[in-house]
Amino acid sequence: MTDTARPILVFDSGIGGLTVLREIRRLLPYEQILYVADDAAFPIGAWEEQSLKQRLLDLFRDLLSVHDPKAVVIACNTAFTLAGEALREAHPDCRFVGTVPAIKPAAERTFSGLISVLATPGTVRRAYTRGLIDSFASRCHVRLVGSDRLAVLAEAHLRGEQVPDTELQAEIEDCFLEDGGRRTDIVVLACTHYPFLANRFRKIAPWPVDWLDPAEAIARQLVRVLEQHLCKTPGSAADRAVFTSNPEDPALQRLLAGFGLTLVQDQLFNVDVGRPSPQVRQAGKETLPLA
Ligand code: DGL
Repeated sequence: MTDTARPILVFDSGIGGLTVLREIRRLLPYEQILYVADDAAFPIGAWEEQSLKQRLLDLFRDLLSVHDPKAVVIACNTAFTLAGEALREAHPDCRFVGTVPAIKPAAERTFSGLISVLATPGTVRRAYTRGLIDSFASRCHVRLVGSDRLAVLAEAHLRGEQVPDTELQAEIEDCFLEDGGRRTDIVVLACTHYPFLANRFRKIAPWPVDWLDPAEAIARQLVRVLEQHLCKTPGSAADRAVFTSNPEDPALQRLLAGFGLTLVQDQLFNVDVGRPSPQVRQAGKETLPLA
């Protein structure tokens, strides 16, 4: 297949990756997009690492062989900080663009030196995230705030459901730190679902901060990676979305249509990849099998 006929595959566990898709479209309007959401596994923020990594490797083995994308954007911090390296090793010929907590730009921009990273519990636990802090923010005080619920609340908000301020408040309040006259001035949105809530966060924050959304930087990286493989003229193929649970949900279809995507069923997920494998959820020190 020629590069012009090959899609860019944008992946997330749910609809959070649409925050990245918006920016990709802005910079690369002629590219064909295939949006893939592993909604059968959503939310993945509390998955035990080994099971999640294996699931992602299995899923991508099949996705890449069937769809042959010209590039893959992992628009998910939880997935990329865990499996990015293994995916690149398993598929050396594939161009991967990842999403990692924007700790480096936050450390470069902060005035107070107090930064918070708002993410899923998985992302705040990752060795990858600790590595970013050691490499780029050793002079800052970085507070890691893991939220079990925000990705789910972001999906509810985007689907038009009522999400009370009090629920959001409870999830973000730990991001705000005062220390010797200094206050947190940057909160890194280290889950691609959260930018959908950024305007709500601004309204309920105890003081104004910069809510750092990496979506545009990810899209710019994709442009760099694709270089001469970019489409120069509009293509005729529609941009599609596939969800691993193969939902038949008119509200989701409408929501995706608002992002220029047609929801299609994918036979790939009727076999075995889309079925939720037994999850092992980590809660604090305990490891609990989910019913
Ligand atoms: N959107 C994903 C991220 O960037 C995670 C959402 C989830 O918990 O599934 O980390």
